[in-house]
Amino acid sequence: MGEEIKKGLMGVTVDETSISKVMPEINSLTYRGYAAQDLCAKCKFEEVAYLILNGDLPNSKELKKFEKEERKERKLSKSLISIIKQMPKKSHPMDVARTAVSVMGLEDKETTDNSPKANLRKSMRIFSKTPVALAAFYRLRKGKKIISPKKKLSFAENFFHMCFGKVPNKDIVKAFDVSLILYAEHSFNVSTFTARTITSSLSDIHGAITGAIASLKGPLHGGANEEVMHMMNKIKKPENALNWINNALNKKAVVMGFGHRVYKSGDSRVPTMREYFGKVAKITKDKKFEKIYDIVEKVMIDKKNIHPNVDYPTGPTYHLMGFDTDFFTPIFVISRITGWSAHIIEQHSTNKLIRPLAAYNGSQHRQVQSLKDR
Ligand SMILES: CC(C)(COP(=O)(O)OP(=O)(O)OC[C@H]1O[C@@H](n2cnc3c(N)ncnc32)[C@H](O)[C@@H]1OP(=O)(O)O)[C@@H](O)C(=O)NCCC(=O)NCCS
Repeated sequence: MGEEIKKGLMGVTVDETSISKVMPEINSLTYRGYAAQDLCAKCKFEEVAYLILNGDLPNSKELKKFEKEERKERKLSKSLISIIKQMPKKSHPMDVARTAVSVMGLEDKETTDNSPKANLRKSMRIFSKTPVALAAFYRLRKGKKIISPKKKLSFAENFFHMCFGKVPNKDIVKAFDVSLILYAEHSFNVSTFTARTITSSLSDIHGAITGAIASLKGPLHGGANEEVMHMMNKIKKPENALNWINNALNKKAVVMGFGHRVYKSGDSRVPTMREYFGKVAKITKDKKFEKIYDIVEKVMIDKKNIHPNVDYPTGPTYHLMGFDTDFFTPIFVISRITGWSAHIIEQHSTNKLIRPLAAYNGSQHRQVQSLKDR
């Protein structure tokens, strides 16, 4: 009898965390005990970022200090701007984000200090600067001038300002803020586990977040929001949706934006994001994406009993806000930096090297032949 293999670590509990949990009693994702949808209703993203990083919701004074710090750290070094200017215009922005965080690690004066306080300061710098780096690339690849961050703007407003040169109406900004709150943290998902694995060798936060970004890029994880948009663009119009999804299911295709390793009867983030997708669709006078959304969702639930995950509504929402499709997962990054950072700090505080075993299925012992005899 060989060892029992838990492929994909499915169902394996590898450690404890106090950061987030899907609580069955309220059927919801919670951050530090608060339901994500309640946070969406009552807080702005900066409050939730503070909560995830520090463990409690801020009072007004704490929030003001946190926002001041985030706004102060937005400035990029001249060398990072110059590196972004030299990046191939065709680069995927996820690779730009990955490289930018890696460069921040070269420049940070505390890179080798893994104490909780230094890690919190470094996470703040990564959190503040990564959206600025991404927005700079967003402009440059379109042949446009980089727009400097503005201290009077919130995290979400500033991202719109740096990408588009203007801040949209407050309902669009709120929908974006909500998406950031819903993307901020989700326990031991692939990218967070990657960050924790890197951290477990006592490596640094910049390395761990660089690895987490690479992990998030894949279509089975964060990349799904981009794939959802590609799917909706292929469907083109609501009249095609029914045929398209039936064909996809007949071909046993994986339909992006559906299914989840943890939620098997619906992702608790979806109803909130669906509501804000509806609001954005109304403001932008969308005539097709909401209809396509509903048709594909109905067939997936009726025929496969597979429910949408949060990437399904965020994809078309970001599209209607005007973002290029390959910027959807980078938006996920600028939010998830909070969750990754909290996990990296937690991993350092209770560290055990992550080093699983593998059941070997290769050749038995062989004799090495010298090159001339092979
Ligand atoms: C997220 C995901 C990787 C979870 O995978 P998992 O926990 O390993 O579950 P499985 O892939 O084993 O799925 C179980 C069954 O549901 C089916 N299934 C799951 N998600 C599906 C989807 N999106 N489309 C079609 N079928 C799906 C699988 O084919 C499998 O069927 P089978 O038992 O007949 O082989 C998977 O649902 C998926 O690939 N979804 C699309 C990508 C996506 O949206 N990712 C974002 C996640 S937040």
